[in-house]
Amino acid sequence: LKIALLYGGSSSEREISIKSGKAVENALKKLGFQYSVFDPAEGKDFIKKITDYNPDLAFIALHGKIGEDGTIQGVLEFLGIKYTGSDLKTSAICMDKSLTKDILKAEGITVPEGYTIQNLDQINDLRLGYPVVVKPNSEGSSIGVKIVENEDQLGKAVGEILKIDSKVIIERFIKGREITVGILNGEPLDIIEIKVKEGFYDYYNKYISQETEYICPAEIESSLYRKIQNTALKIYNILGCKGVARVDFILDKDKPYFLEVNTIPGLTDHSLIPKAAAVKGINFESLILKIIEGALN
Ligand code: DAL
Ligand code: MG
Repeated sequence: LKIALLYGGSSSEREISIKSGKAVENALKKLGFQYSVFDPAEGKDFIKKITDYNPDLAFIALHGKIGEDGTIQGVLEFLGIKYTGSDLKTSAICMDKSLTKDILKAEGITVPEGYTIQNLDQINDLRLGYPVVVKPNSEGSSIGVKIVENEDQLGKAVGEILKIDSKVIIERFIKGREITVGILNGEPLDIIEIKVKEGFYDYYNKYISQETEYICPAEIESSLYRKIQNTALKIYNILGCKGVARVDFILDKDKPYFLEVNTIPGLTDHSLIPKAAAVKGINFESLILKIIEGALN
């Protein structure tokens, strides 16, 4: 089996993708696969190189725009190359947090109350009490996410986000536990609870801080635990996810509020899916192997 490993890319999560990609590369080496690395940031050259290589499978370790939003998936479909993870349509939907919430809400999933706006004036029409969470509609790794306490901060945060995204999500801040559920080839992994030292699970607490704690399996009473895993699986199925995906929630007492789905979750040494897989006895190489198998089935 000849694998094209894709990492890098041109999104704001390029650095994270390089970390995920290097970890996957290491695993492919250990597993003895024939592979070559490709970076879609090269544009047309990328298409020429991957076409010449003629792989049996593309392993996509890209995050964010172009890599996780269906674009690369579309290119690979066009070239007739199989790839890991969700297809073009699911990738595109999940990259649009607002659209994803609308779809899931219509299916009875609990989502935080909120608005999606496209210009600064619209903040005058909001009917939400502070604090609120403000985030770009189509970013990852918590880039641009802020919790704001008043109108001044809100205006500033929205203005900043409008420089990087055409849509801004404003949601009621839900005080609760940050939890996430990975799904691997249609099977839920254990729930991880994330406990940060200060603030919330933002870029710093995700990738830099050594003090963020990860509790897996999360200490949640067993019937609620199963309910959350089932909700995550239901979300994965409604959206048509494939391979590995990660569903993030805020748990307010016994109510999980859906935040978002990551169709290409991070695979860095700080990342969540490898931690949850390890709890099930699946080491990093086995995880990569399962993702590959999932894509070939
Ligand atoms: N977007 C980052 C990589 C994650 O979901 O882990
Ligand atoms: Mg994300």
